[in-house]
Amino acid sequence: MAHPTLLLALAAFAVRCAADMVAVTGATGKLGRHAVQQLVEQGHSVRCLCRSAPTKPSRGEDATAGEVAAWLATLPGVEVFQGQVTEKEKVLELLRGCSACLALHGAKRYTKAEDLLPWVDESTDANHGKQVNCEAVGYLLDAAVANGCKRLVRVTGKGEDPWSPFSILINGLGSMAKAWNQEGERRLRGQSQVDYTIIRPGYMGKVDATLDDEVSLALADDGGDLKVSAIPHRCVAELCVRCLAYPNAARATLVAMTQPGDGPRPLGAMQGPLLLVVLSAFCNVAGAEDAGSCEGDGPALLQSKQTRSLGNLSLENIQLHSLPIPPTTCTHCCWQDGEEVPCLDVERCAARGPQKGKYAIVLSLVGAAVQSANETRFRYFASMRAAAKLAGADILLLVDKRNNASLSPFVLKLVQEKELKLLLVDWEVPPQMTWTNSKVPWCGRQDFIRLHVLGLQGYDAAAYYDTDVEFRGDITPMLKCAATGKFLSSSGGIGEPLNVGFFALRPDSRLLSAALALAEVGFDKQTCWANMGWAPRDYAYVGGECGQGFMYTLFYRSGGMVDKVLSSAGVVVDSAQLDRCMWNYQTHNDCVKPFDCSRIRVHHKPAHLTEFQECQKMEFHKLLSVKNEIA
Ligand SMILES: NC(=O)c1ccc[n+]([C@@H]2O[C@H](COP(=O)([O-])OP(=O)(O)OC[C@H]3O[C@@H](n4cnc5c(N)ncnc54)[C@H](OP(=O)(O)O)[C@@H]3O)[C@@H](O)[C@H]2O)c1
Repeated sequence: MAHPTLLLALAAFAVRCAADMVAVTGATGKLGRHAVQQLVEQGHSVRCLCRSAPTKPSRGEDATAGEVAAWLATLPGVEVFQGQVTEKEKVLELLRGCSACLALHGAKRYTKAEDLLPWVDESTDANHGKQVNCEAVGYLLDAAVANGCKRLVRVTGKGEDPWSPFSILINGLGSMAKAWNQEGERRLRGQSQVDYTIIRPGYMGKVDATLDDEVSLALADDGGDLKVSAIPHRCVAELCVRCLAYPNAARATLVAMTQPGDGPRPLGAMQGPLLLVVLSAFCNVAGAEDAGSCEGDGPALLQSKQTRSLGNLSLENIQLHSLPIPPTTCTHCCWQDGEEVPCLDVERCAARGPQKGKYAIVLSLVGAAVQSANETRFRYFASMRAAAKLAGADILLLVDKRNNASLSPFVLKLVQEKELKLLLVDWEVPPQMTWTNSKVPWCGRQDFIRLHVLGLQGYDAAAYYDTDVEFRGDITPMLKCAATGKFLSSSGGIGEPLNVGFFALRPDSRLLSAALALAEVGFDKQTCWANMGWAPRDYAYVGGECGQGFMYTLFYRSGGMVDKVLSSAGVVVDSAQLDRCMWNYQTHNDCVKPFDCSRIRVHHKPAHLTEFQECQKMEFHKLLSVKNEIA
């Protein structure tokens, strides 16, 4: 009887025989064969680059490259294409008609004794790390551009400090493969025509059998770090395949490891990690890099380590703009219950607001940040001050009163200089909340302290903002609109229907009471808050268990327990979402093209320089020009 996986694959293939062709390099490798199998199961046609001619089909651990190539050829929709990644013409042909490429090859050459002879240029060897891990990436990019192939996923390795003993050992023994892999990464980041995702796995292999059920996939951007751990080939393969269908994972560099988790969480069964992928995409990747080449004295990574110290940067005299807001800059961005709705016309709404109101902009600090907050955390504060000045708003900082004594000197100085007012509160998480998560760090504390904004009576409107928000335009219309009694927020750039980094409303203690009642009802991973479900998504989106899911449920869902808590508190909500490309810019995703960055009023994320399609925060521009002047 045919194997069920094969039947499934055949069925998927039949349904999606017109699916796009994906090219896979390193298809005979341990990672590659998993990836090809998963692509097939999803109904893709696959063209595999194999160095060896197919022999007798076998997929076993000890199978030769020829045997694996023969096995690949037996899979439905798979074409075996013979060649090397270092053959430019072959690579061009490989990508013909392909919409995406998984570049899973890697140099296998060990350093040879003769490499030490000064008259031997070992890097011209077609199997050398320079050729396989760097030059070949250039060939793939050229071929992708020539063939209109827009998506490339590249697996490299964890990007440790090049001078770490581990890097020196691996590079010394393996023809500098690791260093050249990172040069290959630079080439990917340095171009703008192909959307890449770089995946840096830990050690690929079997996870300790006793732990297998206990670990989950952990992903981070390469600005963060994860302890090296074993990660199954199949998980990395699945991540590669999933990234193809996930636009937000484009132009991202991800570190993928395993970590002790909440019990078994096979990647296939969860959306969470993918959303984490996306989160990662918004964080830093190694600094700005040019397209570069594989020529020169050696990997540039060995010559310089990118640093991005922000120093004591302050932007005085910031001029915020009031450029007209285009009617629509974000498509598929605004949601009510399970439905997509038009985003609110803020200026029209503001026309109904008060001529002059008492406004507040609110920030918060929790946990270790209370003690450590410094000018880096508050690097956009000057722009917030400018926005507050223009709107005539106070700036308030929410802190749990138990942390009052440990406020950082920087914050104390801001308070003393009357730049912000401290708002000491009784809790970070509502005491009666029935949901918590022992995960550290848990998003709950940082998210739920914001609920205090709901009850901030005495203000006509209050707007909460994360500290990484940079104000670029006048927010007065938004505050005026909130003062009409509307709850305002925007969706997030990674699938969340509400991004808790910004919301605004006319505070009302009854709203806070309703929120506390909802907190008491609690959360369930399957059914979200108060069993109201995950609509408008069909998965547990990022932050669903914390403020993003909580607020969306309270302010945008109707019926069930939500209606009950609101009516018990004697309050009705009137909520509307704002065009996030203007009012809470997070990524260019869903922003109409061409997008005019100069119109953004509030720029939340991302801040890194390498993503060419992204609008850049002003401060980073300024930093860049300072750097150029010095250079
Ligand atoms: N394994 C790990 O722990 C680990 C950790 C981090 C990153 N990585 C990266 O992930 C990659 C894949 O891992 P893996 O475990 O699948 O490695 P693998 O089993 O050694 O597979 C490497 C693949 O690259 C192919 N290849 C090498 N040189 C080539 C060339 N010149 N032209 C075409 N194909 C070529 C190999 O083809 P043949 O079968 O013909 O030799 C093989 O298919 C590694 O190469 C490495 O760069 C691995």
